[in-house]
Amino acid sequence: MQGDIKMVKRYRFGSPIETEAVLHKPDITERECEWLKKSEDGFFCRLPQETIVYGLGESIRGINKRGWLYRSFCSDEPEHREDKQSLYGAHNFLLLSGDVYRKEDTEDALPEQKNIGFFFDTPGEIVFDIGYTKRDRMEITFSDFDLELYVMEGESPDEVVSAFRELIGRSYIPPKWAFGYGQSRWSYETADDVRKVAEEHKRLKLPLDSVYLDIAYMERYKDFTIDEKNFGDFDSLVKEMKENRIHLVPIIDAGVKIEEGYDVYEEGKEKGYFCKDENGEDFTVGVWPGKCHFPDMLNEEARHWFGDKYHLLTDRGIDGFWNDMNEPAIFYSEKHLKKVFDRIDELKKENLDVDTYFEMTGLVAGSSNNLEDHKSFYHQYSEMPGEDRIRHDKVHNLYGYYMTRAAAEAFEELVPEKRILLFSRASYIGMHRYGGIWQGDNMSWWSHLLLNIKMMPSLNMCGFLYTGADLGGFGADVTEDLLIRFLSFGIFTPLMRNHSALGTRRQELYLFEKKEEILGVLKMRYRLLPYLYSEFMKAALRGTMMFRPLGFVYREDRIARQTEDQLLLGEELMLAPVHEQNQGGRPVYLPERMKFLRFRKGELLEEEVLERGYTFVEMPLGDICIFLREGHKLPLAESASHRNFENTEDVDYDNLVFCEFGDEIPDYEYYSDDGETKEYSLEKNIRML
Ligand code: GLC
Repeated sequence: MQGDIKMVKRYRFGSPIETEAVLHKPDITERECEWLKKSEDGFFCRLPQETIVYGLGESIRGINKRGWLYRSFCSDEPEHREDKQSLYGAHNFLLLSGDVYRKEDTEDALPEQKNIGFFFDTPGEIVFDIGYTKRDRMEITFSDFDLELYVMEGESPDEVVSAFRELIGRSYIPPKWAFGYGQSRWSYETADDVRKVAEEHKRLKLPLDSVYLDIAYMERYKDFTIDEKNFGDFDSLVKEMKENRIHLVPIIDAGVKIEEGYDVYEEGKEKGYFCKDENGEDFTVGVWPGKCHFPDMLNEEARHWFGDKYHLLTDRGIDGFWNDMNEPAIFYSEKHLKKVFDRIDELKKENLDVDTYFEMTGLVAGSSNNLEDHKSFYHQYSEMPGEDRIRHDKVHNLYGYYMTRAAAEAFEELVPEKRILLFSRASYIGMHRYGGIWQGDNMSWWSHLLLNIKMMPSLNMCGFLYTGADLGGFGADVTEDLLIRFLSFGIFTPLMRNHSALGTRRQELYLFEKKEEILGVLKMRYRLLPYLYSEFMKAALRGTMMFRPLGFVYREDRIARQTEDQLLLGEELMLAPVHEQNQGGRPVYLPERMKFLRFRKGELLEEEVLERGYTFVEMPLGDICIFLREGHKLPLAESASHRNFENTEDVDYDNLVFCEFGDEIPDYEYYSDDGETKEYSLEKNIRML
């Protein structure tokens, strides 16, 4: 059953704020929800030991979310550690798979085997205590108990996801070039830095589709400006890159610099488009450019105005953007900083002891992303007729979503025929229709490669298909082996971008010694593109997942249900990436017989049928290891040795070769289109191969 809306129940609590996450709303159910008991400020239910709790999209910890406390509150959180509770996205979807109790059941009642999805649609803060306080209990609390709750049941986790995705509408589809390799750095400081990246890739025959421009391309970090000194020849840079078939992808930040004479600031101020403080004055915060105002993305008129500004770059040949700092991130607010300085002045006179010393350090550290600041500014939200204004914290999780929506809606007007690459750091479910996300400021840590792997299916459930992590890791210094392992998984993720932070070791591919291995990994990405694009498009158009946990398919297999560092890709493949240092291979769990495929330098080197069970597989650096399910085939672009891929345009999507496993293999449903226009159609564009 694909997304039968009838199987979804919708409940309303209090006076919910419209988020526009759900497109297709069933009627409100008057009866009470069977599975969740109401508490004063939320819900709770029993959670039997073996029940898996999938969901929560972008968040820390495992695919099974049990055993921790998560806070849904979009956060500028550069430390994706286990002890954190929130990252940049707020994805309030849970999927319980396994034993579930009806809420009226008594202690001795027997549980039922179920797959149930819950979407808690509210833009404010939620705390999900998933077996954290009590191992066998889940508790969900809301700072404002006003929400729409959607509950969907299915025969399988896949069915639940399809029903959910049907509710929230089709995922964003980027242009095909956005599946190519992208190189980024905070920051390429000059146009020549960008040229150098392109030249080095060309010299070493390393494919490249895009170079990302971080904040240095702007004039003192002002949105929609170009730094004249270092990017004075911006138009020729764009042109040269175009000639080399490379796309430039600039960053856009949420905060607009306060500066007289800067037109975006002047216009926003004059028209009243910025968020206001309690006295109705434009709210002032500090971000990259220093003092800024936040455009009121929730105000329809302001959103339209901000979105239209992207034309300043699309007019100059830009066709891709990344929206950043849109949780929104706040280094400090003018108001709060004053308090901090006043108190520090007092502390200066004291003999700092254990209390006052830590108070002082806490004051400075606590000045960024402070909840008090989120409670001190206001929006004019068009979806709240009758209300003059709404306090930011109550709609906090919508800000990044609506910023990205601003851009996407503008593109529909500016370049209606063309797909534009767009992804964001902050997000809420609903934003998946307007853009993708990257997984934020990870670190060059092995544990973050594992986190990247685990996040893929959780994000897919929530509709975020175009996604990927900063390959190599953003913060901290990368090592060559970590970079190659990151890439070896990253070749499967729709967004494949290498990005790293200011002050860290340079991470461009051409700077490393193992050139053959790196080239081989990249070649494999381009050979996989016909398949990856096809799988992506089918997942987007059918509302399915590209990456699934093993437990979705091998539901009766206890080991598969507990395996979190292997994933299924499409119906065909299983991936088992190496994610630990100094490991030349790894144990792999095969939930069924599969054909193991080893690719080296982009060529198939070895294939072997492996039986069900555990096996140790050698995976030296640079080898791409894929497990093909029985009764399936994997289409690949022609052998890389016949072609030198410079970028996605060199991939021949028509002449494919196949790796196959099984005696009777049904045709592969191959989706292919021009990758540029919006003529999406399963009927027209699928061929059976
Ligand atoms: C934020 C982004 C990061 C970017 C940096 C500078 O930390 O997450 O990707 O490089 O800002 O713009």
